[in-house]
Amino acid sequence: MTTIVITGASDGIGAEIARQMAERYGVKAVLVLAARNVAGLQTVASQCNAVGARTLILPVDVSDQSQCIQLIETTVKNFGGIDILINNAGLIAQALLQEVETKNLNWYEYVMRVNHWGSVWCTHAALPHLLASQGRIVAVSSLVGLIGLPGHTAYCSSKFAMTGFFESLRTELIDSGVCVTIAYPGVVDTQIRAHGLNAQGAIGELSSLNEKNAMSVEECARLIVQATMRRKRQVVMTTKGKLGQWLKLIAPGWVDRMAIAAVKLQRKP
Ligand SMILES: NC(=O)c1ccc[n+]([C@@H]2O[C@H](COP(=O)([O-])OP(=O)(O)OC[C@H]3O[C@@H](n4cnc5c(N)ncnc54)[C@H](OP(=O)(O)O)[C@@H]3O)[C@@H](O)[C@H]2O)c1
Repeated sequence: MTTIVITGASDGIGAEIARQMAERYGVKAVLVLAARNVAGLQTVASQCNAVGARTLILPVDVSDQSQCIQLIETTVKNFGGIDILINNAGLIAQALLQEVETKNLNWYEYVMRVNHWGSVWCTHAALPHLLASQGRIVAVSSLVGLIGLPGHTAYCSSKFAMTGFFESLRTELIDSGVCVTIAYPGVVDTQIRAHGLNAQGAIGELSSLNEKNAMSVEECARLIVQATMRRKRQVVMTTKGKLGQWLKLIAPGWVDRMAIAAVKLQRKP
């Protein structure tokens, strides 16, 4: 049996990773699906069950450390260990820093709690079990965890923090048999922008990113599952993302302009 824990499994990339893992492992898979929306988790679980995989759905808010610990403890109690942990739960936020009032700055902390701390808490709790299984850790970061984007100071900093944490952890685990894969998707066709946070910290539709050439969720999940199986250190998605990494070394100003061109923001005159 291969026990796979996926956070943010009720929708989008996490749900599709669950379905693809279920297809791949069939009856040999136990999928522990975590998120807040139980109805969404139930739908994904029945899709995974249909191809033979076992599932356990757990309502978890990753912004709460005790719920992250509970997720891992319940998994180990039920299935005896963990082979793969996929830190995928996340939300997006968009605002120019100059538009954020001091009284609203606390949502920056919330974005950090969900995207970064949720991953840290789950990984810390799961680490002894992953060491025992010589398992795999996956972090779903973003291209904005490598390159800054205007209007995304909160989101980018949470993803850069994930990058730093998981890069460091990889070096700590180098001889342990546990691998760390960081995924850097570009724009993916999911609902993430339909419920992002705005300058006031309110949930709403965000549409600054050009979504014309968005990657399909199936392709994004396929690349993540493939990199996980191959124990790759990272998967950088899109040609621009790959190019940006190299250009940043030799022409960083050019990369800044590419980032500005990628978003359409209403700036104050
Ligand atoms: N879509 C893109 O363009 C894109 C690009 C680069 C990186 N990413 C990253 O990919 C990951 C998945 O995003 P997506 O596009 O699939 O977004 P999505 O469709 O909005 O799904 C986000 C998932 O995260 C869960 N989640 C959000 N807040 C949570 C919380 N506090 N506790 C537990 N689960 C929570 C949601 O479930 P509940 O609401 O049920 O809790 C949902 O299952 C995120 O980390 C995102 O930053 C996305």
